[in-house]
Amino acid sequence: MTPIEIKNKTNMTQRDGFTSTFGVLVATLGSAVGLGNIWKFPYLTGTNGGAGFLLVYLLATLLLGLPVMIGETMLGRATRANAVSIFEKLRPAQPFWKIIGYMGMLAAVLILGFYTEVAGWVFAYIFKALSGSLLHGDASAAQAQFKATIANPLSALAWQWAVLLLTGGIIMLGVSKGIEAVAKRLMPVLFLLLVVLCIRSLTLSGAGAGLKFLFAPDFSKVSAGVILTAVGLAFFKLSIGMGTMLTYGSYFRDDQNIPVTAGRVMLADLSISLLAGIAIFPAVFTFHFAPTDGPALVFLTIPAVFASMPGGQIFMVLFFVLTALASIGAILSLLEVPVAALTERLHWSRRKATALTVLLIAILGAPAALSNGAAAHWTIFGLTFFDFYDFVSSNLLLPVGGLLLCVFVGWIIGRDWVQSQLSNRGLLANQAVVTGVFMLLRYVSPVLIVIVLLRGLKVF
Ligand code: PHE
Repeated sequence: MTPIEIKNKTNMTQRDGFTSTFGVLVATLGSAVGLGNIWKFPYLTGTNGGAGFLLVYLLATLLLGLPVMIGETMLGRATRANAVSIFEKLRPAQPFWKIIGYMGMLAAVLILGFYTEVAGWVFAYIFKALSGSLLHGDASAAQAQFKATIANPLSALAWQWAVLLLTGGIIMLGVSKGIEAVAKRLMPVLFLLLVVLCIRSLTLSGAGAGLKFLFAPDFSKVSAGVILTAVGLAFFKLSIGMGTMLTYGSYFRDDQNIPVTAGRVMLADLSISLLAGIAIFPAVFTFHFAPTDGPALVFLTIPAVFASMPGGQIFMVLFFVLTALASIGAILSLLEVPVAALTERLHWSRRKATALTVLLIAILGAPAALSNGAAAHWTIFGLTFFDFYDFVSSNLLLPVGGLLLCVFVGWIIGRDWVQSQLSNRGLLANQAVVTGVFMLLRYVSPVLIVIVLLRGLKVF
């Protein structure tokens, strides 16, 4: 069951949960896997120098991402509340901690401000793939085509609104169970399609150069700013630091083994990102694109690989359809954070909470949607709105949210509580896991996040 559907069925005082271990895994993966894997991971790996960035990202996922994810789901499950109320329930006398939830709601809105635009590009590319206009395999034509798509103000806004209406509608109508059921069956197909793409890419002439870029680190490129971006990506990828996993954790079953579930989600998510990287970078070097092509990267390289394959057009359509579906799963989980908090705290109806959230995103998202054309010269601190929303959410709000969460669990809530949560009331007590997670949350992760943030933001 999805959270959305649960909320529609139950009233505010009575909460239900996911019905099976597999259901939990699918819902959590549905949130984690999205444009982050297919679009953002390859694009950031390309612009930040390749393998060195990948290595830092892997370390950040293990040392920061995994413990924070475990911490969030634990808090959610123990309190069965939304991202703000969780902290009120656990520490009513310390209202400060609710800031984690409020920052999460802000991060969700900012992320959606640019994420829905990229999802819109994916939708536009489904139609381009269907029309056959992506099959030329010519680098400069592909670049011109992508620029034309994202620069047109009307289509940029229309696609963003279409995505917002579609996802807002899914939440309001409570048909997310259907979407989840479809996604559940289609995610393995996305995985297989990526494997096919990888095989094709590995037989291209630029395979060696692509793999070298992705796997042979050049540490001279790993600056403090690059490290902060990698940490931000690790949080973004696992949907943590902003309330999604707090909220999803509140639907976990009592006997769910949280560390095992979090570990599986992390591994599956990482595999999909790596497959996307292996599919894309050989193509970059074969078809004369540049790793630094930025947000355009996947939209340029993937069609080029398909164009070089028999039956490429069918696969290409399938690829963009599956990517669109994956992005919808992530968007629903982002919307769920403010919608759950607004309905439960202000007693708004789900309809009203969704409508107002979507409206706010449409307003804030418009300058981001237009930032590749009409609003390209509108900047904040030298960044376009698109990049600004991304920077503030991924590189500031998510790591700070993660840091506060570590401090809350490691220092305020304490070890006994973590012990009782992770051992599922004595059923699954594994001391090594409990100690490991607790030590990471109490000492390692917060110290690392503080250093990365201060150095990355050039404080020292
Ligand atoms: N993890 C999602 C992705 O990679 C994005 C996301 C971020 C979803 C934060 C929810 C919360 O696409």
